[in-house]
Amino acid sequence: MSLTPESQGLTLTVLGCGTMGISILGGVMATLADTRLRSHIPSPSPSGTSTPATEPPERLPSKFIACDSRREAEKTVKAGLGHYNFPLTTLTNENIRGASQADVILLACKPQGFKDILGEKGMKEAIAGKLLISILAGVTGKQIEDFLYPDGVPENACRVVRVMPNTASAVRESMSVIAASNPPLSPAQHSLVTWIFNSIGRTVSLPPTNMDACTALCGSGPAFFALMLEAVADGAVAMGLPRQEAQTMAAQTMRGTAGLVLNGEHPAMLRDKVSTPGGCTIGGLLVLEEGTVRGTVARAVREATVVASQLGQGVQGVNGTRR
Ligand SMILES: NC(=O)c1ccc[n+]([C@@H]2O[C@H](COP(=O)([O-])OP(=O)(O)OC[C@H]3O[C@@H](n4cnc5c(N)ncnc54)[C@H](OP(=O)(O)O)[C@@H]3O)[C@@H](O)[C@H]2O)c1
Repeated sequence: MSLTPESQGLTLTVLGCGTMGISILGGVMATLADTRLRSHIPSPSPSGTSTPATEPPERLPSKFIACDSRREAEKTVKAGLGHYNFPLTTLTNENIRGASQADVILLACKPQGFKDILGEKGMKEAIAGKLLISILAGVTGKQIEDFLYPDGVPENACRVVRVMPNTASAVRESMSVIAASNPPLSPAQHSLVTWIFNSIGRTVSLPPTNMDACTALCGSGPAFFALMLEAVADGAVAMGLPRQEAQTMAAQTMRGTAGLVLNGEHPAMLRDKVSTPGGCTIGGLLVLEEGTVRGTVARAVREATVVASQLGQGVQGVNGTRR
């Protein structure tokens, strides 16, 4: 992929530059910087006919605008992203200005804040005809569209797409789920959204009806895996390993297992392969099964899915505390 000349590049504006906004901008800039570096190194002649899984977009972001409501966010953005040396403007309480200069807008405020931002006078005009990517947990694309266009979606409406990344975007290991749009995004829009979120990890596209389960699996998942990671480290500490080493060993073992599965290994086959007859692994696995770990973990995902489904309705927790 060759880097798009700046004159043809897109302007990406982020509305809400907290943890996620900065992580995503950082991933995009890091990917562009890698591409820029590679374009100066002659690439070896292709040895096969394999093609990339997703066609890269024809136009890539080349200018960035970071909008937030706090002046301090400008410093954080510059400190976190300035070293990439891409054209980067920071704005405070100037969302309309940021959105009107954008080709693509990333909405990354808190879920309950979207009405304040999208309801600002002039915002509808600023985002008209543009791609609006929302990463707000629990807020559907339809809720955003209904809020923006209560009288029906006009011809020059913005195109809303919902994406659910996760906290590992900070280390460019996010699992991001792109909610399939109806009607579908244009190929150019789809490849741009996929490219943006591939720059912070992996992506899959699924129907919007799956998004609550995706929120539970990928959004809450890091917390679930962290609990398991701590548990195995605790066991090792109980058997005499130093804490720090046990934690590193647990994390690397988790990463290695994930790597094998992402490489195509079936988890059941993986378990079987390391379960020597009469050995320690089968002994440990049977203890986990006695403790109904599989059912409990699966139920945690189901519970989190139910709670996630209520977030967009302004309900928090299973018993439904209204905000
Ligand atoms: N963190 C995750 O792991 C994760 C994963 C998936 C999806 N998400 C979603 O991503 C979104 C952002 O999450 P986050 O963790 O990055 O939250 P965050 O750190 O609180 O970032 C949100 C930012 O938006 C700013 N903001 C608030 N009102 C604004 C306004 N009117 N105009 C411009 N900026 C405004 C906030 O400023 P103030 O601090 O002044 O309010 C804050 O800097 C949320 O909707 C969340 O559901 C998060």
